[in-house]
Amino acid sequence: MVKVTLKDGVYWVGVIDWNIRDFHGYITNRGSTYNAYLIQDEKTALIDTVKHQFSEELVRKVKELTSFEKIDYIIVNHVEMDHSSSLPEIAKLAVNAKILSSARGKEELIEHFGKEFERVETVKSGDEIKLGSKTLRFVEAPMLHWPDSMFTYLVEDKILMPNDAFGQHLASSERFDDEVDQHILMEEATMYYANILMPLSPLITRKIQEVVAMQIPIEMIAPSHGIIWRKDPMKIVNAYLNWSQNATKNKVVIVFDTMWNSTDKMARAIGDGAAYAGVDVKLLKLRSYAISEAMTEILDAKAVLVGSPTLNNQMFPTLSSFLTYATGLKPKGKLWGFFGSYGWGGGAVKSMVKVAKEAGFDVVEQGLEIKFVPDEEDLKKCFEFGQQIAQKIKV
Ligand code: FEO
Repeated sequence: MVKVTLKDGVYWVGVIDWNIRDFHGYITNRGSTYNAYLIQDEKTALIDTVKHQFSEELVRKVKELTSFEKIDYIIVNHVEMDHSSSLPEIAKLAVNAKILSSARGKEELIEHFGKEFERVETVKSGDEIKLGSKTLRFVEAPMLHWPDSMFTYLVEDKILMPNDAFGQHLASSERFDDEVDQHILMEEATMYYANILMPLSPLITRKIQEVVAMQIPIEMIAPSHGIIWRKDPMKIVNAYLNWSQNATKNKVVIVFDTMWNSTDKMARAIGDGAAYAGVDVKLLKLRSYAISEAMTEILDAKAVLVGSPTLNNQMFPTLSSFLTYATGLKPKGKLWGFFGSYGWGGGAVKSMVKVAKEAGFDVVEQGLEIKFVPDEEDLKKCFEFGQQIAQKIKV
C-alpha cells in the first residue's frame, strides 16, 4: 500500500467506493470515499472507521502501519453507518482501545450495535487527549450531520477532522485538494452541501462562527468523505459560510416532467421569457436529471419554477418525489412558481401549490395552467410568466 501521509505520524487509512451511485437517494455519479485516519505518537488513535463492506481493506491498511493491539483510542466522530458499520469488527481487533464519542454518540452506538458499546467513554467540547507530542481536542457539532456528530482537532498539526462537514462524494486516486480538478471538487462539494447539509444551514453558520471564535489555527481539513483540504482549507469554509447564509443570484431553476410534451413546451417558453429578462436559467427535466442534481442547482437560485402534467387529478409522481425531497431540505429565500398542462379536470398545479404552501415556501399565487397542447397564445403567456418571475427576483 502507498502510505498517504497528512503530517508526520498522521495517515489516511480510508477506502474509496468507486462504484456507489446512490447514497440514500442522492445520486453519486463520481462515487465516494469513507475516510479514516490513524495517528501514531506515544499512543495511537484511529479516527473513525468505514462502511462495513470495506472493513477488510481498513484492517489491512492499519496493519501495514501498526498492530491493532497498539491502538489506544478509537474516536467515533459520527455514528451513521457509512462511518461506523465496521466498528464492531474493529473494536474486537483493537482489544486495548478505549472507544470515545460524544454522549449522544454513545447512546446511538448502543442503539445500533448493542450493549457491548456501553463501555464507550464520552467526551465533550474542549476535552483533550494527549497522545504524546500530539493532542486530540474535541468539538461537539450536534446535527452536523446527526445529533451525535463531533469534530476532532489535532492541535499541534492544526488538522481539523470534522467528519461529514466539508466533505464531497468524490472517488479519486488523489487524496488532496491540490491534486484534483478544482471545478470537479467544488461541483461535488456544492452537491454534497445542497443534498445533505442545506437544512442545517443556521447551525452551520453558528458552528463556523464558534470555531473561528476559538481562534484555532487550521492548516488542513480532513473530512470523512472525499478530498482533504490542505492547500486552501478556507476555500471550503468560505463556501460553507456563503451557502449557509443562503447566498443566491439572479437565477431561475425550472424543474419539470412531461407526458406528451405540453409541459415541456411550457417549460421552454417560460425559460426563454426569464432568460430574455436577463437572469440565468437552468431547465431540468426529471427523468433526465436526478432530484439531487436539481437541488444542487436550486442552492444558489432565487426562483424555482416547477411544472407538471396532470395525471389522475394529481401532479406527476416524479414531481411528488421531487417536492417531498425539496421540502425536507428546507431551501430558504426562494420564490416558488408552478405551472403545468391538463386534459380536462386539472389538479397538478393545485396539488403542487398545496405542498409548497404547507412547507412554508414563498409561493407565487397565480400558477399557470394550459389545457392539452399550448398554442401560440399559450406560449406567449408562458414567456410572460417567465419574464414576470425574472422581474420579481431582480428587484
Ligand atoms: Fe457520512 Fe452522516 O454520514
